[in-house]
Amino acid sequence: MNTCIVGLQWGDEGKGKVVDLLAEDSDIVVRYGGGSNAGHTVVIGEERFALHLLPSGSVRAGVMCVIANAVVVDPAVLIGEIDGLALRGIALTDRLLISENAHVVLDYHKREDQLREESLGKEKLGTTVRGIGPCYADKVGRSYAVRMSDFCNLPELDRKLRTILAYKNKLFAALYGAEPISIETVMASCRQYAERLVPFVRDTTEWLHHAIARGQSVLFEGAQGSLLDLDHGTFPYVTSSNASSLGVPAGCGVPARMIEKYIGVAKAYTTRVGAGPFPTEQENETGQYIREKGHEYGTTTGRPRRCGWFDAVAAAYSVKIGSIDALALLHLDTLGGLKKLSLCSAYEIDGRRTTFFPANIDRLARAKPIYEQMAGWDEDISQATTFEDLPANAQAYVRRIETLIGKPVEMIGVGPKRSQTIIRK
Ligand code: GDP
Ligand code: IMO
Ligand code: MG
Repeated sequence: MNTCIVGLQWGDEGKGKVVDLLAEDSDIVVRYGGGSNAGHTVVIGEERFALHLLPSGSVRAGVMCVIANAVVVDPAVLIGEIDGLALRGIALTDRLLISENAHVVLDYHKREDQLREESLGKEKLGTTVRGIGPCYADKVGRSYAVRMSDFCNLPELDRKLRTILAYKNKLFAALYGAEPISIETVMASCRQYAERLVPFVRDTTEWLHHAIARGQSVLFEGAQGSLLDLDHGTFPYVTSSNASSLGVPAGCGVPARMIEKYIGVAKAYTTRVGAGPFPTEQENETGQYIREKGHEYGTTTGRPRRCGWFDAVAAAYSVKIGSIDALALLHLDTLGGLKKLSLCSAYEIDGRRTTFFPANIDRLARAKPIYEQMAGWDEDISQATTFEDLPANAQAYVRRIETLIGKPVEMIGVGPKRSQTIIRK
């Protein structure tokens, strides 16, 4: 069985944890989009892993890991991650594959991301400054793109990079008065990257099709969240890839109909990092309570995450566009101790009530959340192992979310550890 795990909100829903859990019964885990802007956390016992480019299946011995064509690969980050895991006794030597068609993030992409964000001042998007937008822009523009296969032919890459740098240096100097980047520096890094990564490079589309034909089971690991999807999210406050499950077919060459199950991951509340509208945001004591209790600080950048109530309108939209079959609802424990919980079940926009999320940010900015109030619970639920272990109010909260979204909640997170997950049948 092939399964896709995707975030239903604005990222950081806990995808890493869900992928790690389901990887136990999977042969292969595939990252199909995004880059090192992602930060996926896996906690096993007292050990914590934060993965940016490696699929979250990498911490399980024996699971094959694939970085597919639509991922933008920062070689320095990837090598650091491979080495970091090796130091902790986890080898990837024979179980990592990187698509030859995946585009490469180089230092000038990160520089461009940073220079642009700085020059925009208050208008900035609040990116992770990992060079994601500039790299995807080069991919779409084609003339100045570098792909993993380019590491297999260094003389040709040298020629290509000279053309690219001539262009980038003129641009950066004219726009930002930036110092030029030398071809020698970039090529010196590329030679090291090539030496380390070429052994993993191949046609991952062909490999995946053969594996699926042999009956191997594949987990497709989404990065970011559906509301950050370039085409269907809250543009321009999105990332530069199709972060919803719509990104899977284009992102790895495996058609959507070959995936039997789509699991949407959501927190029991909502968070967002970076700029952009967020109707249920709580810039008050409640938001602060959730941030501190849930440790809501970015895995990649350490930035405090904006926190707010669960938005069923937004999550239901992600379920609709993403063909989601079931939900994993994480961080239920974090809501413990709040007397009353609010659930957003509809919006009022220009005097009209709607339950369909407007991705258009002008309309979204005018959306007033309509809340339902629910009673909270004080009990510590972090040791609960079955749904019945949960206090009645927590059960009622989960059930109400199921009704509002129209899909079953099959997994419930009651703490960060792998073991702190209730599996509901
Ligand atoms: P991802 O990007 O979707 O993989 O999520 P992140 O790793 O960026 O953020 C999720 C954070 O919540 C991590 O620190 C996880 O360890 C933690 N976490 C995941 N599930 C739970 C849960 O059910 N309860 C609590 N308290 N923490 C959780
Ligand atoms: P995971 O996979 C949360 C956000 C950034 C910014 C916007 C654009 O851990 O859920 P980018 O660097 O992609 O150009 O930034 O997208 N963003 C994320 N927010 N989790 C992520 O990944 C994110 N990846 C990007 O904060 O608002
Ligand atoms: Mg994250």
